[in-house]
Amino acid sequence: MDSEDQKELLGESLQGTPTVVPGQPTHTRKLYLESYGCQMNFSDSEIVASILSEAGFATTRDEDDADLILLNTCAIRENAEQRVRARLRQFKQAKGARPHLVVGVLGCMAERLKESLLEQEKLVDLVVGPDAYRDIPNLVDQVHGGQKAVNVLLSREETYAEISPVRLDANGVTAFISIMRGCDNMCSFCVVPFTRGRERSRDPESIVREAHELFDAGYREVTLLGQNVDSYKWNIDNKGVVKNESEPVVRFAELINRVAHVNPDLRVRFSTSHPKDMTDDVLEVMAKHENVCKYIHLPVQSGNSDVLKRMNRGYTREWYLERMAAIRRIMPDCATSTDIISGFCGETEDEHKDTLSLMDMMHYDMAYMFSYSERPRTLAQRKYENDVPPEVKSRRLQEIMAVQKVHAANRTKSYVGRTYRVLVEGTSKKKEDQFFGRTTYNTVVVFPKENAKPGTYVNVHVQDCTPVTLIGKMTKNEPSA
Ligand code: SAH
Ligand code: SF4
Ligand code: F3S
Repeated sequence: MDSEDQKELLGESLQGTPTVVPGQPTHTRKLYLESYGCQMNFSDSEIVASILSEAGFATTRDEDDADLILLNTCAIRENAEQRVRARLRQFKQAKGARPHLVVGVLGCMAERLKESLLEQEKLVDLVVGPDAYRDIPNLVDQVHGGQKAVNVLLSREETYAEISPVRLDANGVTAFISIMRGCDNMCSFCVVPFTRGRERSRDPESIVREAHELFDAGYREVTLLGQNVDSYKWNIDNKGVVKNESEPVVRFAELINRVAHVNPDLRVRFSTSHPKDMTDDVLEVMAKHENVCKYIHLPVQSGNSDVLKRMNRGYTREWYLERMAAIRRIMPDCATSTDIISGFCGETEDEHKDTLSLMDMMHYDMAYMFSYSERPRTLAQRKYENDVPPEVKSRRLQEIMAVQKVHAANRTKSYVGRTYRVLVEGTSKKKEDQFFGRTTYNTVVVFPKENAKPGTYVNVHVQDCTPVTLIGKMTKNEPSA
């Protein structure tokens, strides 16, 4: 796929993006920060840039010009880690000629591999896990003092709530807001609970404040981020005990409600929903607010209940179908997307076919599709054999991708012929005289610039499409969505 919407891809496809913050005169040292992995990791990089900006670092896009090189890494699949290792070997070479250069690894790979990145692999000077970013300035000083530095302590409380993220590579229109950290689910294939620690939610006041600040700065869309946003909770513990009786309890539906009230012109999106926890009150609050986008990413992983059980996902095929039916009942026009893993431990041909048949029932707008990669320490690695041969995994993945390609193209075609309210994001990558933006359904639309401006809403009549992008023209007519 080649349209602007690929910016939103999760996982490896977002990898290797260098980020830049404008320098200030007091910033004497230079940071080169490269981010890999999911949106949450990108959001964390904005926290890291903020912490280091306070410590006197300006960021640079030029790695040759940096005093400090940091890679914010992902451990979700083995190939994600291999790419980072290759990059670290390049930096190790660079260090030969620049003895004062400090190279560090942040994020999920840092948390997973800890000291071994320093000791066995000898690739870096600095290893910092996702909950220890406040310590980076001290750790850099420690490295300058001649020591290697590690902090991979996970926290039950850290949410970086009061740190104002430095918006990296900002388009000035759309931004991420982290609403929680960690994950308490133990999906058997997944390394995230080991790399990100326990689930904890961020103070709703600080979330709403951040949304206000973004709106005042001209932003018009926020995406609320968490590994399982449906289990967001404030002032209540996992057992349902209210912590402070004089304060309200805030769950995810109420959080959406509060953020949606920041301004009717601020669009609200969120990711990721979990099929086992997505409740009707969340769907109802989405339906109630026009500015909450009609789009849900609901990862299914597999269409077979036995595989889902081995994956420890906490739902069956029937439960998932019922949740999708609830979406369609409460918001008949809502767009949907998913994540799918091919070739999980013990997956038979029939079980794989159940995934294909579920896809045929769902007609997702979009899907992230992966073949299973065994991760150290996970339940699946300890309990099940990774027994689907690589060629079978990849053939099944191809089949899944082929089905999705047809569904996505059909979904795109189904949007042609109507008028949509589109948030203008910027100039189209392919055509200088065109803008691109998105519909509420998260579909990218390109149209001639005329007198439109990024960060405003326009009505676009869609006349044509490619398999993933809508092509239109601004109109004075009222939108149908
Ligand atoms: N919290 C989100 C997903 C986070 S990881 C959720 O529960 O849906 C993003 C996606 O990576 C997952 O949905 C899954 O499809 C994929 N993934 C995770 N671990 C994987 C592994 N070991 N092999 C292949 N894909 C994996
Ligand atoms: Fe991983 Fe499951 Fe948590 Fe998602 S919900 S991050 S897949 S353990
Ligand atoms: Fe990767 Fe960590 Fe995100 S493993 S997908 S960067 S939470």
